[in-house]
Amino acid sequence: MQIHTTIASLRAALSGAGRIAFAPTMGNLHAGHVSLMQTARQAADTVVSSIFVNRIQFGPNEDFDCYPRTFQADCAQLEAVGVDHLFAPDEAELYPSPQQYFVLPSPAHDGILEGKIRPGHFQGVATVVTKLFNIVQPQVALFGKKDYQQLMVIRNMVRELNLPIEIIGCEIVRAPDGLALSSRNGYLDAAQRAEAPRLQATLQEVARALATGRRDYSVIEQNAMQQLAAHGWHPDYIAIRNRHDLQAPQGNAALVILAAARLGDTRLIDNLEAG
Ligand code: PAJ
Repeated sequence: MQIHTTIASLRAALSGAGRIAFAPTMGNLHAGHVSLMQTARQAADTVVSSIFVNRIQFGPNEDFDCYPRTFQADCAQLEAVGVDHLFAPDEAELYPSPQQYFVLPSPAHDGILEGKIRPGHFQGVATVVTKLFNIVQPQVALFGKKDYQQLMVIRNMVRELNLPIEIIGCEIVRAPDGLALSSRNGYLDAAQRAEAPRLQATLQEVARALATGRRDYSVIEQNAMQQLAAHGWHPDYIAIRNRHDLQAPQGNAALVILAAARLGDTRLIDNLEAG
């Protein structure tokens, strides 16, 4: 695997690379990230990944400074799964001066759920992903369903801005007890780690309620949040939404249940596509 810290070096290496699949990350890689690389390996001649902890998608009180940085271990995992090129720029390379031009997701997509609780987050994601797309110029790009709203925002951005990139959404990789793998799981102490699978278990209960034909969505959501709260969680939301636009359920649109909740100081998100 070649490691590039400059845009010029990556661009030179990718000229004539054939069909390129690209999976961006912020590092601290786990089996969820690796699954993206495996799918990428099947999808193209050349697989490119990136590691960049993108300051502009973090809020002022979020974990940018303490976000886990494990570059050597990350490189070993990317190498093992057959990634050809890793782009690992420093901030001066990607943001030589403070960014003044941004990609603004639609308020309909940004003003709900994660976007509502983390103002500016999806603007930061959409902007860095656009920059990375322009640098790598992939034919295919891979994102995890773990960040369901992020995937929806990227799909819509690519469509509306006519970027010639196919977006592949990859399934969530979980620990055996159901907890979705996440870099932020490392913040949990032993007791919190034992409690954490309740988030996914609660989403499965909501899915079972929907499967019985119930349509009193807000009652189901409130009950689920109360259950989490009773076990020491601070839920931000549990929301039953259309999969395609994450708005309130309409007609027979396929549904997804999304959750965000804090356990101690750690904020976890998860989701489940329902029936
Ligand atoms: P990061 O959190 O590092 O995630 C990189 C990619 O891995 C995302 O597409 C994410 O959805 C996916 N991923 C994370 N955990 C996963 C899991 N358990 N199963 C499957 N996929 C998983 O998401 C970002 O970085 C950033 O916002 C980024 C897109 C790189 C822009 O900065």
